[in-house]
Amino acid sequence: MSRDRNIEIAPSILSADFSCLGDQIKAVERGGAGVLHVDVMDGHFVPNITIGLPVVKSLAAFTSLPLDTHLMISEPGRYATQFVEAGAQMVSVHVEADPHLHRTLMAIKAAGAHAGVVLNPSTPVVSVEEALQFADYVLVMSVNPGFGGQKFIPQSIDKVKRLRRMIDERQLNVRIEIDGGIDRKNIEIVVAAGAEIIVAGSAIFDTHDAEAAVKQLRDATVQWV
Ligand code: DX5
Ligand code: ZN
Repeated sequence: MSRDRNIEIAPSILSADFSCLGDQIKAVERGGAGVLHVDVMDGHFVPNITIGLPVVKSLAAFTSLPLDTHLMISEPGRYATQFVEAGAQMVSVHVEADPHLHRTLMAIKAAGAHAGVVLNPSTPVVSVEEALQFADYVLVMSVNPGFGGQKFIPQSIDKVKRLRRMIDERQLNVRIEIDGGIDRKNIEIVVAAGAEIIVAGSAIFDTHDAEAAVKQLRDATVQWV
């Protein structure tokens, strides 16, 4: 692969211990995390409710890591720029939730953040073809969104490859993020397929040492860094 790649580990705080979230974030900072992945769920688009704007605002003031907000909400266009105002540097919206992707992506960028489009496991790559030119990154879900700790869907590897090809053919500067079921065993294969921002929740926070877990994931990708 000829283009420069910047492989980053994105710890998902969904699996963190919220009673000591600050400590957990400091640990992943020390481990060398590239961004902090924040899962926003509304109990409507996905069957779970998590966190929203006030938490993002507090996190932005607390951590030096860029906040990568993954909006698993209906009508994300109504809220996307509010997450930028709250301090998110990356905001992604699901293609399945937004019939006005162009408008939402442009609004996120105009507000000063990187704009991402997310694909559920059964949503075809072609559904983002027209949106690619307006996006900074595409997030490929490798589990069905809603919960941490699910099993990686292996067909996601080929999906990442096909998406990478589609982006490269158009000579676009769009990064690929992958989210769901990533651990030390499969991280190499998803990076080899073309993913650059690697979300991991349970593989980091369901351990005794989140700092070491991030380091181990980074070490597994060292040949691409
Ligand atoms: C799932 C979320 C993920 C989740 C990943 O809906 O989008 O970010 O936290 O957790 P793991 O890495 O445990 O699959
Ligand atoms: Zn996520």
